Amino acid sequence: MIDMRVRVGSLVFDNPLLAASGTYGFGREMSEFYRLDRLGGIVTKAVTREPRIGNPPHRIAETAGGMLNAVGLQNPGIDSVLRDELPWLLKQHVPVVVNIAGRDLSDYVVLTDNLVGSGISAVELNLSCPNVKTGCMAIGSEPDLIEAVTRACKRVADVPVWVKLTPNVTHIGDMAKAAEAGGADAISLINTLLGMRIDIRTRRPVIKNNTGGYSGPGVFPVALRMVHECSQAVRIPVVGIGGIHTAEGVIEMMLAGASAVQIGTANLIDPYAMPDILDALPGLLTELGAEAMAALTGAVQPWQEGAR
Ligand SMILES: Cc1cc2nc3c(=O)[nH]c(=O)nc-3n(C[C@H](O)[C@H](O)[C@H](O)COP(=O)(O)O)c2cc1C
Repeated sequence: MIDMRVRVGSLVFDNPLLAASGTYGFGREMSEFYRLDRLGGIVTKAVTREPRIGNPPHRIAETAGGMLNAVGLQNPGIDSVLRDELPWLLKQHVPVVVNIAGRDLSDYVVLTDNLVGSGISAVELNLSCPNVKTGCMAIGSEPDLIEAVTRACKRVADVPVWVKLTPNVTHIGDMAKAAEAGGADAISLINTLLGMRIDIRTRRPVIKNNTGGYSGPGVFPVALRMVHECSQAVRIPVVGIGGIHTAEGVIEMMLAGASAVQIGTANLIDPYAMPDILDALPGLLTELGAEAMAALTGAVQPWQEGAR
Protein backbone atom coordinates (compact mmCIF):
# COMPACT_ATOMS: atom_id res chain seq x y z
CA MET A 1 0.00 0.00 0.00
CA ILE A 2 1.33 3.39 -1.00
CA ASP A 3 0.76 6.16 1.53
CA MET A 4 -0.67 9.00 -0.55
CA ARG A 5 -1.13 11.45 2.31
CA VAL A 6 0.73 14.75 2.30
CA ARG A 7 1.12 17.51 4.85
CA VAL A 8 1.05 21.25 4.19
CA GLY A 9 1.99 22.78 7.54
CA SER A 10 -0.70 21.73 10.03
CA LEU A 11 -3.03 20.41 7.31
CA VAL A 12 -3.03 16.77 6.20
CA PHE A 13 -4.54 15.88 2.81
CA ASP A 14 -5.49 12.32 1.79
CA ASN A 15 -3.58 12.80 -1.46
CA PRO A 16 -1.54 15.65 -2.99
CA LEU A 17 -4.03 16.69 -5.70
CA LEU A 18 -5.96 19.91 -5.14
CA ALA A 19 -8.07 21.56 -7.82
CA ALA A 20 -6.60 24.96 -8.75
CA SER A 21 -8.55 28.17 -8.35
CA GLY A 22 -10.65 29.33 -11.28
CA THR A 23 -10.64 26.03 -13.12
CA TYR A 24 -13.10 24.23 -10.85
CA GLY A 25 -15.67 26.88 -9.90
CA PHE A 26 -17.11 25.92 -6.52
CA GLY A 27 -17.16 22.22 -7.42
CA ARG A 28 -20.82 21.81 -8.42
CA GLU A 29 -20.30 21.15 -12.14
CA MET A 30 -17.43 18.72 -11.54
CA SER A 31 -19.48 16.78 -8.96
CA GLU A 32 -21.58 15.54 -11.88
CA PHE A 33 -18.52 13.63 -13.16
CA TYR A 34 -17.13 12.08 -9.94
CA ARG A 35 -17.26 12.25 -6.14
CA LEU A 36 -15.30 15.30 -5.00
CA ASP A 37 -14.05 13.48 -1.89
CA ARG A 38 -11.62 11.61 -4.14
CA LEU A 39 -9.50 14.75 -4.28
CA GLY A 40 -6.95 15.96 -1.77
CA GLY A 41 -8.76 19.30 -1.76
CA ILE A 42 -10.47 22.02 -3.77
CA VAL A 43 -9.38 25.63 -4.12
CA THR A 44 -12.36 27.80 -5.03
CA LYS A 45 -12.61 30.44 -7.73
CA ALA A 46 -11.28 33.79 -6.43
CA VAL A 47 -13.83 35.49 -4.20
CA THR A 48 -14.06 39.28 -3.93
CA ARG A 49 -16.04 41.54 -1.57
CA GLU A 50 -18.57 42.53 -4.23
CA PRO A 51 -19.97 40.35 -7.03
CA ARG A 52 -17.96 40.79 -10.27
CA ILE A 53 -19.09 40.07 -13.81
CA GLY A 54 -15.48 39.89 -15.00
CA ASN A 55 -13.97 41.17 -18.24
CA PRO A 56 -15.89 41.41 -21.54
CA PRO A 57 -15.45 38.60 -24.12
CA HIS A 58 -13.33 37.28 -25.73
CA ARG A 59 -11.56 36.33 -22.56
CA ILE A 60 -10.14 32.92 -23.51
CA ALA A 61 -7.73 32.04 -26.33
CA GLU A 62 -6.20 28.66 -27.05
CA THR A 63 -2.50 28.58 -27.78
CA ALA A 64 0.14 25.91 -28.34
CA GLY A 65 0.65 24.05 -25.10
CA GLY A 66 -2.19 25.71 -23.23
CA MET A 67 -4.47 28.72 -23.13
CA LEU A 68 -4.69 32.42 -22.31
CA ASN A 69 -7.45 33.70 -20.05
CA ALA A 70 -8.55 37.10 -18.87
CA VAL A 71 -11.69 36.15 -16.97
CA GLY A 72 -11.14 39.09 -14.62
CA LEU A 73 -12.20 37.53 -11.31
CA GLN A 74 -15.84 36.86 -12.20
CA ASN A 75 -17.52 35.59 -9.03
CA PRO A 76 -20.75 36.08 -7.06
CA GLY A 77 -19.08 37.94 -4.15
CA ILE A 78 -18.33 36.82 -0.59
CA ASP A 79 -21.90 37.07 0.78
CA SER A 80 -23.29 34.79 -1.89
CA VAL A 81 -20.34 32.39 -1.60
CA LEU A 82 -20.89 32.08 2.16
CA ARG A 83 -24.64 31.63 1.73
CA ASP A 84 -25.00 29.63 -1.49
CA GLU A 85 -21.72 27.88 -2.33
CA LEU A 86 -19.70 26.96 0.77
CA PRO A 87 -22.43 25.12 2.70
CA TRP A 88 -22.90 22.75 -0.25
CA LEU A 89 -19.18 22.36 -0.96
CA LEU A 90 -18.31 21.66 2.68
CA LYS A 91 -20.85 18.80 2.67
CA GLN A 92 -18.82 17.00 -0.03
CA HIS A 93 -16.26 15.89 2.59
CA VAL A 94 -13.29 17.40 0.82
CA PRO A 95 -10.98 20.05 2.31
CA VAL A 96 -11.84 23.48 0.91
CA VAL A 97 -9.38 26.31 0.41
CA VAL A 98 -10.96 29.67 -0.44
CA ASN A 99 -9.00 31.86 -2.86
CA ILE A 100 -9.60 35.57 -2.15
CA ALA A 101 -8.75 38.64 -4.22
CA GLY A 102 -8.88 42.35 -3.42
CA ARG A 103 -7.85 45.81 -4.52
CA ASP A 104 -5.98 46.68 -1.34
CA LEU A 105 -4.95 45.41 2.08
CA SER A 106 -8.31 46.15 3.69
CA ASP A 107 -10.19 44.05 1.09
CA TYR A 108 -8.03 41.04 1.95
CA VAL A 109 -8.52 41.55 5.69
CA VAL A 110 -12.31 41.94 5.38
CA LEU A 111 -12.56 38.81 3.23
CA THR A 112 -10.37 36.79 5.61
CA ASP A 113 -12.49 38.01 8.51
CA ASN A 114 -15.71 37.07 6.68
CA LEU A 115 -14.41 33.51 6.36
CA VAL A 116 -13.73 33.07 10.10
CA GLY A 117 -15.83 30.20 11.43
CA SER A 118 -16.91 29.07 7.96
CA GLY A 119 -15.41 25.58 8.25
CA ILE A 120 -12.88 25.91 5.43
CA SER A 121 -9.36 24.44 5.71
CA ALA A 122 -7.28 27.43 4.53
CA VAL A 123 -7.43 30.82 2.88
CA GLU A 124 -5.35 31.39 -0.26
CA LEU A 125 -4.46 35.05 -0.81
CA ASN A 126 -4.50 35.62 -4.55
CA LEU A 127 -1.73 38.22 -4.81
CA SER A 128 -1.14 37.23 -8.40
CA CYS A 129 -4.10 37.69 -10.77
CA PRO A 130 -2.75 39.40 -13.92
CA ASN A 131 -6.16 40.28 -15.37
CA VAL A 132 -7.39 43.13 -13.17
CA LYS A 133 -6.15 46.72 -13.05
CA THR A 134 -5.78 47.24 -9.29
CA GLY A 135 -4.53 45.10 -6.40
CA CYS A 136 -3.74 41.43 -6.87
CA MET A 137 -0.63 41.18 -9.07
CA ALA A 138 0.37 44.76 -8.24
CA ILE A 139 0.50 43.73 -4.57
CA GLY A 140 2.18 40.42 -5.40
CA SER A 141 5.03 42.15 -7.24
CA GLU A 142 6.09 44.22 -4.19
CA PRO A 143 7.73 42.33 -1.31
CA ASP A 144 6.72 44.99 1.26
CA LEU A 145 3.06 44.77 0.24
CA ILE A 146 3.10 40.95 0.21
CA GLU A 147 4.46 40.96 3.74
CA ALA A 148 1.98 43.59 4.97
CA VAL A 149 -1.11 41.92 3.47
CA THR A 150 -0.03 38.50 4.72
CA ARG A 151 0.62 39.79 8.24
CA ALA A 152 -2.72 41.63 8.38
CA CYS A 153 -4.66 38.55 7.22
CA LYS A 154 -2.80 36.28 9.62
CA ARG A 155 -3.99 38.50 12.47
CA VAL A 156 -7.66 37.76 11.75
CA ALA A 157 -7.57 34.28 10.14
CA ASP A 158 -8.65 31.20 12.11
CA VAL A 159 -7.17 28.83 9.50
CA PRO A 160 -3.78 28.61 7.74
CA VAL A 161 -3.04 31.39 5.25
CA TRP A 162 -1.48 30.44 1.92
CA VAL A 163 -0.03 33.14 -0.35
CA LYS A 164 -0.34 32.56 -4.09
CA LEU A 165 2.53 34.11 -6.02
CA THR A 166 2.80 35.46 -9.54
CA PRO A 167 5.55 34.29 -11.90
CA ASN A 168 5.56 37.74 -13.53
CA VAL A 169 8.44 39.04 -11.41
CA THR A 170 12.22 38.96 -11.73
CA HIS A 171 13.07 37.29 -8.42
CA ILE A 172 10.22 35.06 -7.22
CA GLY A 173 12.33 33.83 -4.30
CA ASP A 174 12.18 37.34 -2.82
CA MET A 175 8.37 37.28 -3.01
CA ALA A 176 8.33 33.90 -1.27
CA LYS A 177 10.55 35.27 1.50
CA ALA A 178 8.24 38.27 1.94
CA ALA A 179 5.24 35.97 2.39
CA GLU A 180 7.17 33.91 4.92
CA ALA A 181 8.19 37.09 6.78
CA GLY A 182 4.51 38.08 6.96
CA GLY A 183 3.71 34.78 8.65
CA ALA A 184 2.30 32.78 5.71
CA ASP A 185 1.69 29.11 6.50
CA ALA A 186 2.48 28.13 2.90
CA ILE A 187 3.04 29.63 -0.51
CA SER A 188 1.41 28.42 -3.70
CA LEU A 189 2.75 29.06 -7.18
CA ILE A 190 2.54 29.74 -10.03
CA ASN A 191 -0.40 31.81 -11.14
CA THR A 192 -0.52 32.45 -14.90
CA LEU A 193 2.24 33.97 -17.04
CA LEU A 194 1.24 37.24 -18.67
CA GLY A 195 0.78 36.65 -22.41
CA MET A 196 -0.83 37.93 -25.61
CA ARG A 197 -2.23 36.70 -28.95
CA ILE A 198 -3.04 38.79 -32.04
CA ASP A 199 -5.55 38.04 -34.79
CA ILE A 200 -3.45 38.62 -37.92
CA ARG A 201 -6.50 39.49 -40.05
CA THR A 202 -8.05 42.12 -37.80
CA ARG A 203 -4.70 43.10 -36.21
CA ARG A 204 -6.54 43.13 -32.91
CA PRO A 205 -5.50 41.24 -29.80
CA VAL A 206 -7.60 38.07 -29.60
CA ILE A 207 -8.50 38.86 -26.00
CA LYS A 208 -10.54 42.01 -25.32
CA ASN A 209 -8.33 42.71 -22.29
CA ASN A 210 -5.41 42.71 -24.80
CA THR A 211 -3.35 40.48 -22.51
CA GLY A 212 -4.20 37.30 -20.64
CA GLY A 213 -2.67 34.73 -18.33
CA TYR A 214 -0.96 31.74 -19.96
CA SER A 215 -1.54 28.34 -18.33
CA GLY A 216 -1.44 24.67 -19.27
CA PRO A 217 1.25 22.11 -20.15
CA GLY A 218 3.51 24.73 -21.79
CA VAL A 219 4.15 26.55 -18.50
CA PHE A 220 5.22 23.40 -16.63
CA PRO A 221 9.03 23.80 -16.86
CA VAL A 222 8.82 27.44 -15.76
CA ALA A 223 6.56 26.53 -12.84
CA LEU A 224 8.83 23.65 -11.85
CA ARG A 225 11.90 25.89 -11.79
CA MET A 226 10.08 28.52 -9.72
CA VAL A 227 8.74 25.95 -7.23
CA HIS A 228 12.27 24.64 -6.81
CA GLU A 229 13.70 28.14 -6.40
CA CYS A 230 11.08 29.09 -3.79
CA SER A 231 11.43 25.83 -1.87
CA GLN A 232 15.12 26.65 -1.51
CA ALA A 233 14.36 30.21 -0.40
CA VAL A 234 11.86 29.52 2.43
CA ARG A 235 11.17 27.00 5.18
CA ILE A 236 7.37 27.05 4.85
CA PRO A 237 5.70 24.47 2.55
CA VAL A 238 5.28 25.15 -1.15
CA VAL A 239 2.17 24.09 -3.11
CA GLY A 240 3.22 23.51 -6.74
CA ILE A 241 0.96 24.72 -9.56
CA GLY A 242 1.41 25.13 -13.30
CA GLY A 243 0.97 22.87 -16.29
CA ILE A 244 0.57 19.60 -14.40
CA HIS A 245 -1.48 17.15 -16.48
CA THR A 246 0.06 13.74 -15.78
CA ALA A 247 1.05 11.60 -12.78
CA GLU A 248 4.68 12.09 -13.87
CA GLY A 249 4.17 15.85 -13.62
CA VAL A 250 2.91 15.49 -10.05
CA ILE A 251 6.01 13.50 -9.07
CA GLU A 252 8.33 16.00 -10.77
CA MET A 253 6.66 18.87 -8.91
CA MET A 254 7.00 17.04 -5.59
CA LEU A 255 10.68 16.27 -6.27
CA ALA A 256 11.23 19.97 -7.06
CA GLY A 257 10.06 20.84 -3.55
CA ALA A 258 6.25 20.87 -3.52
CA SER A 259 4.40 19.44 -0.52
CA ALA A 260 1.17 19.22 -2.54
CA VAL A 261 0.09 20.31 -6.03
CA GLN A 262 -2.83 22.03 -7.71
CA ILE A 263 -4.21 21.05 -11.09
CA GLY A 264 -5.80 23.78 -13.21
CA THR A 265 -6.10 23.86 -16.99
CA ALA A 266 -6.02 20.04 -17.22
CA ASN A 267 -9.56 20.10 -15.71
CA LEU A 268 -10.75 22.28 -18.58
CA ILE A 269 -9.27 19.92 -21.18
CA ASP A 270 -10.68 16.76 -19.57
CA PRO A 271 -13.05 16.74 -16.58
CA TYR A 272 -11.62 13.37 -15.54
CA ALA A 273 -8.02 14.64 -15.51
CA MET A 274 -7.69 14.58 -11.73
CA PRO A 275 -9.20 11.12 -11.08
CA ASP A 276 -7.14 9.74 -13.99
CA ILE A 277 -3.94 11.15 -12.48
CA LEU A 278 -4.94 9.76 -9.07
CA ASP A 279 -5.50 6.31 -10.59
CA ALA A 280 -2.06 6.40 -12.23
CA LEU A 281 -0.08 7.57 -9.20
CA PRO A 282 0.15 4.38 -7.06
CA GLY A 283 1.51 2.29 -9.95
CA LEU A 284 4.03 4.96 -10.84
CA LEU A 285 5.21 5.27 -7.23
CA THR A 286 5.60 1.49 -7.03
CA GLU A 287 7.65 1.54 -10.23
CA LEU A 288 9.85 4.25 -8.71
CA GLY A 289 10.30 2.29 -5.48
CA ALA A 290 8.62 5.00 -3.37
CA GLU A 291 6.36 3.95 -0.49
CA ALA A 292 5.08 7.36 0.55
CA MET A 293 4.14 10.36 -1.56
CA ALA A 294 5.34 12.80 1.09
CA ALA A 295 8.87 11.36 0.97
CA LEU A 296 9.29 12.77 -2.53
CA THR A 297 9.07 16.43 -1.48
CA GLY A 298 12.32 18.17 -2.37
CA ALA A 299 14.11 14.90 -3.14
CA VAL A 300 15.61 16.17 -6.41
CA GLN A 301 19.39 15.86 -6.46
CA PRO A 302 20.63 18.85 -8.46
CA TRP A 303 23.88 18.48 -10.35
CA GLN A 304 26.78 20.15 -8.64
CA GLU A 305 28.92 22.56 -10.63
CA GLY A 306 31.67 20.68 -12.43
CA ALA A 307 29.92 17.28 -12.00
CA ARG A 308 30.24 14.84 -14.89
C1 LIG B 1 -9.76 30.13 -16.63
C2 LIG B 1 -8.81 30.31 -15.47
C3 LIG B 1 -9.24 31.05 -14.35
C4 LIG B 1 -8.36 31.24 -13.27
N1 LIG B 1 -8.82 31.91 -12.16
C5 LIG B 1 -8.01 32.04 -11.07
C6 LIG B 1 -8.47 32.66 -9.89
O1 LIG B 1 -9.64 33.08 -9.78
N2 LIG B 1 -7.61 32.78 -8.82
C7 LIG B 1 -6.32 32.29 -8.89
O2 LIG B 1 -5.56 32.43 -7.92
N3 LIG B 1 -5.86 31.68 -10.00
C8 LIG B 1 -6.66 31.53 -11.07
N4 LIG B 1 -6.20 30.87 -12.19
C9 LIG B 1 -4.83 30.34 -12.20
C10 LIG B 1 -4.79 28.86 -11.85
O3 LIG B 1 -5.31 28.61 -10.57
C11 LIG B 1 -3.33 28.33 -11.93
O4 LIG B 1 -2.53 29.01 -10.99
C12 LIG B 1 -2.72 28.51 -13.32
O5 LIG B 1 -3.68 28.31 -14.32
C13 LIG B 1 -1.53 27.56 -13.56
O6 LIG B 1 -1.92 26.21 -13.41
P1 LIG B 1 -2.39 25.26 -14.66
O7 LIG B 1 -1.34 25.39 -15.72
O8 LIG B 1 -2.49 23.89 -14.07
O9 LIG B 1 -3.70 25.81 -15.10
C14 LIG B 1 -7.05 30.69 -13.30
C15 LIG B 1 -6.64 29.95 -14.41
C16 LIG B 1 -7.50 29.75 -15.49
C17 LIG B 1 -7.02 28.93 -16.67
